[in-house]
Amino acid sequence: MSNAILVAGSANLDFVVRAAHVPAPGETVLGREFATFPGGKGANQAVACARAGGATTRMLLALGEDPYAAPLEASLRGAGVELHVVRTRETATGTAFICLADDAENAITVAPGANALLRAEHLPPLAGVSHLLLQLETPIDTVTAYAVAARAAGVTVVLNAAPARELPTALLDALDVLIVNEGELATITTGLRGRIAEALTHLAVPCVIVTLGARGACARARGEFHLRAAYRVRPVDTTGAGDTFCGAFTAASCQGSDLPDALAFASAAGALATTRLGAQTGVPARDEVEKFRRAQTAIADDDALRQLAAYCGLENRSV
Ligand code: RIB
Repeated sequence: MSNAILVAGSANLDFVVRAAHVPAPGETVLGREFATFPGGKGANQAVACARAGGATTRMLLALGEDPYAAPLEASLRGAGVELHVVRTRETATGTAFICLADDAENAITVAPGANALLRAEHLPPLAGVSHLLLQLETPIDTVTAYAVAARAAGVTVVLNAAPARELPTALLDALDVLIVNEGELATITTGLRGRIAEALTHLAVPCVIVTLGARGACARARGEFHLRAAYRVRPVDTTGAGDTFCGAFTAASCQGSDLPDALAFASAAGALATTRLGAQTGVPARDEVEKFRRAQTAIADDDALRQLAAYCGLENRSV
């Protein structure tokens, strides 16, 4: 059956310190608890795909030969992800240094390490793969080569353009779906004025989704806009919530969900992820997401949807 998802990207061990607030430039903050968690945008998204179920999830990643690699492999394999591992002695496994603030927001610095060594020639054969999910914590030339090869093989290419950077035209041209947050959208459409709907219209990618945190998400596909107001939760850690959204969205699409349903499933998964500590440890399983969605449908929030439409510049359009 041709419905495997291949995630190609980063894996980092997250070193997390909790603190009252994230430090301003030049400031030292006296934090509290310290813990490590499996992370990295690519690996988080692979875990989110696998926990959403319905398709085989595979991941191409690079790891150093050091003690940081083992918990990353264990977390991915524990979620049921099949691994294609490029191993290197040249450099350490990727790491991320995270200050997690009491308001659930964070500040993250990544040391890419082995992630920077992924090359075009490492892409495994794409037979049986229906969706390729990419991010930007590996070299941009590699990401572009993977997207171009997948597009040529008829694979649906999904890019989460995080962390923010400008995108080469060859990469944009190879995409079926682009997922960004507000800051990443501003970076990609730099120089454009106007609100979110205008920025989405400007991009030639067939489907573009912008996640807007506690406001929700807005998508544009085939000239139509779709809005999804955020599910209401009490967040403790937003690390990996965007990755959960991307993985859950890709898994739902791979299972044949239409855009509004995939957006709703991904939003619910992302919201639930913020209620738990850690990137991969926070990713919910499909049945938890479905149960959460059933519990929420009674609280349809028309006001939130109206506010989201206004924020995106869609107050006068039917969505
Ligand atoms: O998106 C969250 C992730 O960003 C963290 O897990 C960290 O490793 C960085 O890649």
